[in-house]
Amino acid sequence: MVQPSLCFLGGLLGLFLMAPVLMASTPASMCTPLKTLNDSLSHRRRYMKHNFPINYFIRVHHEEIFKLSNISKMKLKVDGLDELVLQRLWFQVNQGVLKKIIRVLPERHPSRPYTAELERRFRDAEGVFVQSHPPEVFQQELPETIQDIWDQLTEEPDRVPESSWRFASPKSLVDNLCHTMCCLFWECFSGTESSQDYCEVSHSKKGRKTQSPELETRPTEPAEW
Ligand SMILES: *[C@@H]1O[C@H](CO)[C@@H](O)[C@H](O)[C@H]1NC(C)=O
Ligand SMILES: *[C@@H]1O[C@H](CO)[C@@H](O)[C@H](O)[C@H]1NC(C)=O
Repeated sequence: MVQPSLCFLGGLLGLFLMAPVLMASTPASMCTPLKTLNDSLSHRRRYMKHNFPINYFIRVHHEEIFKLSNISKMKLKVDGLDELVLQRLWFQVNQGVLKKIIRVLPERHPSRPYTAELERRFRDAEGVFVQSHPPEVFQQELPETIQDIWDQLTEEPDRVPESSWRFASPKSLVDNLCHTMCCLFWECFSGTESSQDYCEVSHSKKGRKTQSPELETRPTEPAEW
């Protein structure tokens, strides 16, 4: 007698359990704009490094330094963290990063058109991301750790304490954007590789251990244009 309803309950439970798993994977429609973005990113050394003075740093929120190591730390800290939440955070962080890079570039700087294109392509990807998920997904409550980061990122700049700012080179910021993109949207980038390969911290540092990533402390004289 009790069998059918149990079955029903079980089915319902199954649905609930499966829903996040199904939504966690990257919709195939994301791959075209992300690959286009990836194409632009392949020129980042020239436009984000060579066109800038040596030791040129931009002031960013420390949460805008969003690296592969942050992703693995967050996964450890937040039990069952949904990939989709990290993808949302990736868009939130990097739209701020790109905006900050554009803001320091004068109208006629040689990297300006490149950066503007990067931002355009990033926005295209974001548009497809929003369209390819039901709107409820974006109203879902975030895990506390992630919500805290989100709140810091959207805080008014003059309410951010001095000690919370970091200085980072444009190249290191865009490198982070690129590496974390391949980790969080690995389905779009994998040939034979799995997410593990893209999210592995060492993946991005292959053969260039000597390069210093970004300055974690304040340089004495931040360059200005
Ligand atoms: C992404 O760009 C890199 C070059 O920076 C290239 O080697 C790689 O094949 C690209 N991946 C895809 C899936 O387009
Ligand atoms: C990433 O980790 C660094 C410290 O290693 C921290 O300052 C930064 O806020 C973290 N970024 C995010 C998005 O949590």
